Amino acid sequence: MQSDTAGSWVPVALSSDLPALAVMPARIASETVALWRSASGRATASADRCPHRGMRLSHGFVRGEALSCIYHGWSYAQGGQCLKIPAHPGLTPPETIRVVTYAVAEQDGVVWAAAGAPAGEPPRLNGFAPLRSVTVDAAIGFIEAAAGVGMNADGFLSPADAPSGLCLLLSDQGAGQTLVHVLIGQDAGPSARIAASRAVEALRRRAEALSTEGAGA
Ligand code: FES
Repeated sequence: MQSDTAGSWVPVALSSDLPALAVMPARIASETVALWRSASGRATASADRCPHRGMRLSHGFVRGEALSCIYHGWSYAQGGQCLKIPAHPGLTPPETIRVVTYAVAEQDGVVWAAAGAPAGEPPRLNGFAPLRSVTVDAAIGFIEAAAGVGMNADGFLSPADAPSGLCLLLSDQGAGQTLVHVLIGQDAGPSARIAASRAVEALRRRAEALSTEGAGA
């Protein structure tokens, strides 16, 4: 079940939005993480706080198989241990210097991460493929109201009046925002992709209008 609880898989990004050597902020439950992909292609989610002086690691950079902090250049392995302290090039960093890491799984073009130990594998897309992601300035409840249907236990929602073959995968971002991954049928052609994008834009506007009305009520 995808929810704001430890141990649940959260769809943090589309694989296509995380190329090799990239790092980006992402949200898992109530945590902000640095999501990064190494040169060899492995995705890792690290706590977004450098153990040295607290700089956000999502502002850092990836070299080879390590994530480095932008401030003083301490670098961290995929397992979390500190590999290098540039100000002390002859020093092997103590084992105690580590950044917290989270479970990550990648399948069907989606990167999933979890705080805690997930019970099983992330949900499959079952015939759908990712199209794009969009951040909506509305909580999930407003998106459900705009769509005329609720999301299921895994976070999937099929809008009632949208073209068939469109499905949304929702991820709560906190602060009244939702990350929406737009999924379409694997065999969808260009016209279906355009129709899906238009339907999602219309849904985004309705949800944000409902959110604004709700805030002003
Ligand atoms: S704050 Fe990250 S290396 Fe200093």
